Amino acid sequence: MPDTITVRHTEPSDFEALHKVLSQPRAIWGTAQLPYPSAESWRKRLAEPPPGFYSLVACAGDEVVGQLGLHTAPNSPRRRHAGSIGMAVRDDWHGKGAGSALMRAAVDLADRWLNLTRLELEVYTDNAPAIRLYEKFGFVREGVHKQYTFRDGRFVDAYAMARLRPEGTELLHSDMTVA
Ligand SMILES: CC(C)(COP(=O)(O)OP(=O)(O)OC[C@H]1O[C@@H](n2cnc3c(N)ncnc32)[C@H](O)[C@@H]1OP(=O)(O)O)[C@@H](O)C(=O)NCCC(=O)NCCS
Repeated sequence: MPDTITVRHTEPSDFEALHKVLSQPRAIWGTAQLPYPSAESWRKRLAEPPPGFYSLVACAGDEVVGQLGLHTAPNSPRRRHAGSIGMAVRDDWHGKGAGSALMRAAVDLADRWLNLTRLELEVYTDNAPAIRLYEKFGFVREGVHKQYTFRDGRFVDAYAMARLRPEGTELLHSDMTVA
């Protein structure tokens, strides 16, 4: 089994792999996806992305094992600095670094290429692995949305979490800097 995770932009042809990632029980539990997602809705979503949407996938070899979506607001002058994140890793790939690889790439894209100074997300208050991942990347809890989502027969609360870009981060050299 390949243990190196690579990250690239999502391609329209990834829709079946993403449908699989987001059909898994833990992915449905941890996100706002409904069970029995349609592959066709994923095909359309990837074929016609909204303006300002960046979708990254984590790959083990050629296999797509996770996805992160970053929504930005290029047409909203007062919210151009903010981006909103959602993500999931295929259930059988949890705990193997795919989530961290995706978040590392998204933070780099946001900080040093898109000039976003605020990243935000919502996470269910009982989603310990996700909260741990986000705190590892500097997200902090800003508050609690009560009864945020209906999940598996009951309402669940969610933390609003955000990460403000540390001062000077955009000036650090990137691995991608041309010498
Ligand atoms: C949250 C999620 C994306 C993390 O992806 P992942 O590939 O498992 O993440 P990683 O392997 O990079 O682990 C990231 C951190 O999470 C923590 N973690 C992983 N599994 C954990 C667990 N079962 N309990 C507590 N912490 C855990 C680890 O501390 C790890 O950091 P470390 O490696 O520095 O110790 C994944 O669990 C997932 O897809 N869950 C279902 C969908 C979901 O909840 N999405 C988030 C919506 S807000």
